[in-house]
Amino acid sequence: MGVEIFAPAKINLCLHVTGQRGDGYHLLDSLVVFADLGDVLVLREGAELDINVAGKFAHGVPTDSRNIAWQAALIAGWTGHISIEKNLPHGAGIGGGSADAAAILSALGATDSGAVLGADVPVCKHGGAARVSGIGEHIEPVRNLPKLFAVLVNPNVHVPTPRVFSELDQKNNAALPGDFPTRDWFAWLSAQRNDLEQPAIMLQPVIEDVLKALSELPGQRLVRMSGSGATCFALFDNAGLAEIMARELRDTHPGWWVETCTFN
Ligand code: C5P
Repeated sequence: MGVEIFAPAKINLCLHVTGQRGDGYHLLDSLVVFADLGDVLVLREGAELDINVAGKFAHGVPTDSRNIAWQAALIAGWTGHISIEKNLPHGAGIGGGSADAAAILSALGATDSGAVLGADVPVCKHGGAARVSGIGEHIEPVRNLPKLFAVLVNPNVHVPTPRVFSELDQKNNAALPGDFPTRDWFAWLSAQRNDLEQPAIMLQPVIEDVLKALSELPGQRLVRMSGSGATCFALFDNAGLAEIMARELRDTHPGWWVETCTFN
């Protein structure tokens, strides 16, 4: 027996880079949501810490102290067996490892935000739609977001976050508007950006192909990259349409990871 926990994918609906600190970290202003798609972890208390990783994206995930799930258990002062079913691509802009670490901190009742483990861990620990600023440590819940229906696509390329930031020419970009809309979220979202799209495309030009393929899907309401990439998403008015479009993409691009999900 163990405790099963869900570690949802984190999506940046928009991500504005607004500056850079003296220590090199970038200041962000981002609207983050969570998907009903994620990794599944099982924790079983024991005398020693160990990790096993299975699932579609298990390949290349460390099973020792390099895994941030391990580091999260250390922060929580917990030992035992952690089993991770890796359903999310990692190094993919959707929180992969951060989601696992945050799920462990939450399940073990740790008060630590996990910021030391990575900039996305505090918002993943928060676990709900939020405006994230600073370098990821300021979290403001956003409550009136409608349920969003999405197709997620990763072209199976890995984009290292530090390299994406270092390719970014303009670091001082406009922040998000002060207020969120009460209606017509698609119009509001369309007016925002992910400032890391262009630098990520420089490193992995296939991201431009993904954005183009998603933009050409009938009925899409918004297309954008999440985080530092390479995962991109398209939003639709309903789950049925998202499913039809996902099937079409799987046929035309069999090498891409294509999933439907809802965000809220
Ligand atoms: O914190 P995380 O592991 O996600 O960050 C990976 C790298 O991305 C950092 O070492 C840093 O180079 C860059 N980064 C940044 N500004 C942020 C978040 C990450 O420059 N706000």
